[in-house]
Amino acid sequence: MKGIILSGGLGKRLYPATFGISKQLLTVFNKPMIYYSLSSLMLADIKDILLITTPEDINNYKRLLGNGSRIGIKIKYKIQKKPRGIGEAFLLGSNFIGKDDVCLILGDNIFYGDGFIKLMKDSKKIVKSQNKSVIFTFPVKNPSDYGIAKFKKNKLISIIEKPSNPKSNDAVVGLYFYPNSVIQISKKIKPSKRGELEITDINQNFLKLKKLEVKKMGRGYAWFDAGTEEGLSEVSQLIKSIESRMGYKIGCLEEIAFIKKWITKTKIKRIINKYPESNYSKYLLNLLK
Ligand code: DAU
Repeated sequence: MKGIILSGGLGKRLYPATFGISKQLLTVFNKPMIYYSLSSLMLADIKDILLITTPEDINNYKRLLGNGSRIGIKIKYKIQKKPRGIGEAFLLGSNFIGKDDVCLILGDNIFYGDGFIKLMKDSKKIVKSQNKSVIFTFPVKNPSDYGIAKFKKNKLISIIEKPSNPKSNDAVVGLYFYPNSVIQISKKIKPSKRGELEITDINQNFLKLKKLEVKKMGRGYAWFDAGTEEGLSEVSQLIKSIESRMGYKIGCLEEIAFIKKWITKTKIKRIINKYPESNYSKYLLNLLK
């Protein structure tokens, strides 16, 4: 399965913070926001990744992550000239996806929780064995800001993007697993009133075909959309609390790659030597002990 991180957009809700830099490069506690979505894909053993971003930001991402070999994965890049919608990811990424299945994660979505890795790996299997797509919902207090799922007797019957009169508080999170047919479906859908290829329309198509499985993320998980002032600050606080209290890091790419044996000690040492003063490097040094 291939992975796509959608990391473009204008980040208008965070202006002026995002006036000079891509939102997904802003710091979430002590690392760039993009580290968290990238780590989610890595934890699911997705190692072949396309990062889609804006013409202005692409070089910053390349400088930060390179071709991925530093962390034992492959990263390719693609420009999205204008934010024409999340659904455009599959058109821009069609060559990259080729004949594979694909997992899309939004670069400003951050996940944490026991069972998250299993959830991702199980979803990969469902796509492969049943040719179905898998999406997730999470309860929110402000349903009008999200794609909202409507259930009848626990069965998903529709998804509505940013409803003014929400029928539930189950928001569809920015993590989606699809079979290869998502490329064809994305070619079919038309831009919405706001001029975007909506991910919700893609999901509705899969729902009509009875090829959409939805999983509810319960209390064992935390999900943040870090694209708002509150989200960014709340998730930074949460990561800070967990890291300070427990002593481990969330979203440490080198640690994940090292545990999975994708990189050796030598590569970690090289990173430590690059920025030995940072706490991040000190943490990596401890890992080697
Ligand atoms: O966070 C989950 C929500 O994400 C879902 O519940 C919604 O169904 C989905 O439409 C989306 O809503 P948002 O209002 O959060 O989407 P936003 O426009 O903020 O874009 C989400 C991320 O994708 C953001 O990091 C920017 C990036 N993006 C977005 C668009 C529309 C792009 O890179 N290119 C784009 O064209």
